[in-house]
Amino acid sequence: MIIARSIDELRQALSASQRPAFVPTMGNLHAGHIKLVELAKPQGDCTVTSIFVNRLQFLPHEDFDSYPRTWEADCAKLQAAGCDVVFAPRETDLYPEAQTVKVHADPALADILEGHFRPGFFTGVSTVVMKLFMSVFAGKAQGVAVFGKKDYQQLMVIRQMVRQFALPITVLGVDTCRAEDGLALSSRNGYLSEAERAEALQLSLALRELGRDAVAAADALAAHLPALEAKAMEGLRQRGWHPDYLTVRRRHDLQTPQAGDPLVVLGAAKLGATRLIDNFEI
Ligand code: PAF
Repeated sequence: MIIARSIDELRQALSASQRPAFVPTMGNLHAGHIKLVELAKPQGDCTVTSIFVNRLQFLPHEDFDSYPRTWEADCAKLQAAGCDVVFAPRETDLYPEAQTVKVHADPALADILEGHFRPGFFTGVSTVVMKLFMSVFAGKAQGVAVFGKKDYQQLMVIRQMVRQFALPITVLGVDTCRAEDGLALSSRNGYLSEAERAEALQLSLALRELGRDAVAAADALAAHLPALEAKAMEGLRQRGWHPDYLTVRRRHDLQTPQAGDPLVVLGAAKLGATRLIDNFEI
């Protein structure tokens, strides 16, 4: 497995590749990331995983500094998964000067939900992903990039960026990997105390119940939705959570659904100091 610490080293490592398969990550890898790598592998002629904690997508009060950096363990897992190249650029290599040119995602998609509660998040994500894509795929006729559906809105933002910039990249979205009890795997689960870890499942349970309520409301969904969402949020509040949103949206643009739209239920809530997100297509 080759370790590339700069864009030049990466391009050299990929010089013979015509169709890289790429998994962008911020490291602290868990089984969900490894599943992405395993699914990426047969999609291309060289599997690349990036590990880069991207300062641009963190708000000043968020966990950029404390975000777990687990380099040795990450490399061991990637090696075992058959990854060919790890791209772990130094910050000064990916951002040698202040990144004043940025990719601003469509506000209709990027300023709602996660983007509303984490302003600038999707600009940070889109900018780094564009830069990673340029590093991995420049000069290649085509490539594949693999993202988890756990970050549902992120996946939509990236798909839209790839489509609108006509990048020669196929984006694959992969179902969320869950622990045995159903908790969505997340690098941030490591922040939870034992008691919080047991409680954490309640977010996905509340989302599932909201999903069932939404399906039961059928044609009257639009009328009932605000009350159903408020009930779901209140249920979590009663248990000590601080929910940002629990909501039902139509899948194709995450706007308020009309009768008959395919739906997704999404939520974000803080448990203690840890902010968790989850979603289900229903
Ligand atoms: O999902 C993540 O881990 C990050 O947002 C990504 C896509 C690697 C960009 O930093």
